[in-house]
Amino acid sequence: MRPSRADRCRVVKQRGTRGEELKLAADRIRSGSQSPQPRPNAVPAGPAASFSQAPPDAARLVFGHALPTAEAYAALLAGPGVERGLIGPDETARIWDRHLLNCAVVAELVPDRGVLADLGSGAGLPGLVLAMLRPQVDVVLVEPMARRTAFLAECVHDLGLANVRIERGRAEELVGKIGADVVTARAVARLERLVPLAVGLARPGGQILAIKGAGAAGEVAEAEPVLRRLRATQVTIARLGDGVLDQPTTVVSFLTDQNTGRAPR
Ligand SMILES: C[S@@+](CC[C@H](N)C(=O)[O-])C[C@H]1O[C@@H](n2cnc3c(N)ncnc32)[C@H](O)[C@@H]1O
Repeated sequence: MRPSRADRCRVVKQRGTRGEELKLAADRIRSGSQSPQPRPNAVPAGPAASFSQAPPDAARLVFGHALPTAEAYAALLAGPGVERGLIGPDETARIWDRHLLNCAVVAELVPDRGVLADLGSGAGLPGLVLAMLRPQVDVVLVEPMARRTAFLAECVHDLGLANVRIERGRAEELVGKIGADVVTARAVARLERLVPLAVGLARPGGQILAIKGAGAAGEVAEAEPVLRRLRATQVTIARLGDGVLDQPTTVVSFLTDQNTGRAPR
């Protein structure tokens, strides 16, 4: 049965169980009824030592046990990432809010196991962040540029992320070769162009999660013909991190066609 238009595009305010937990913990910290957990001291030596920005309270809540790894990654982004032009120097001050936390809250929509492909990973966002938070998920970072894949390989090594592999190439060249349960993308292309690229990396019935900004609804409307042509279902716009992040993350989510998805399982 063809999904109705309403089913294909539904705007929801997402706050699942994990989201509720984070919100309650954030409220407790703000009201002083619970101090933030002491900062773990297992941050790897090296670049982390030269990046002194303490993680905000929200980072402790969202990253939990993965916080030391997130801190080490923040240092890699702010150090070699900036030096090599993979991230703008102005971004250093907002590495936590605009980059790590913006991506980390997406973990709420990612199952505990399976394969996740991050399309256009760049310096590792959101792929590396989700790999830290979902250690049982096999994460494939899809990125065509050699300079970026070299940085990604160093991050994977330095952060000890055994669940990550890097696939150098454009998404168009990898159609049907990954069959991911979940495909993520941030700042790669407008939805209209991104949808077919992401579908090509997913298994039939896989989930696509595109991190978008304030214009998400407009992009969904613009992409409606391609979403319909590819028989995408359950198109939603979710707001994640409400009450925890100053700037919640907007994610466009949809499922690929169960029957004619192009990637083999
Ligand atoms: C603006 S950067 C964003 C990087 C990262 N996702 C982030 O949010 O910081 C876009 C990235 O997408 C990659 N990219 C662009 N077109 C692509 C394609 N067709 N397939 C795979 N990657 C692509 C680029 O090489 C670049 O690294």
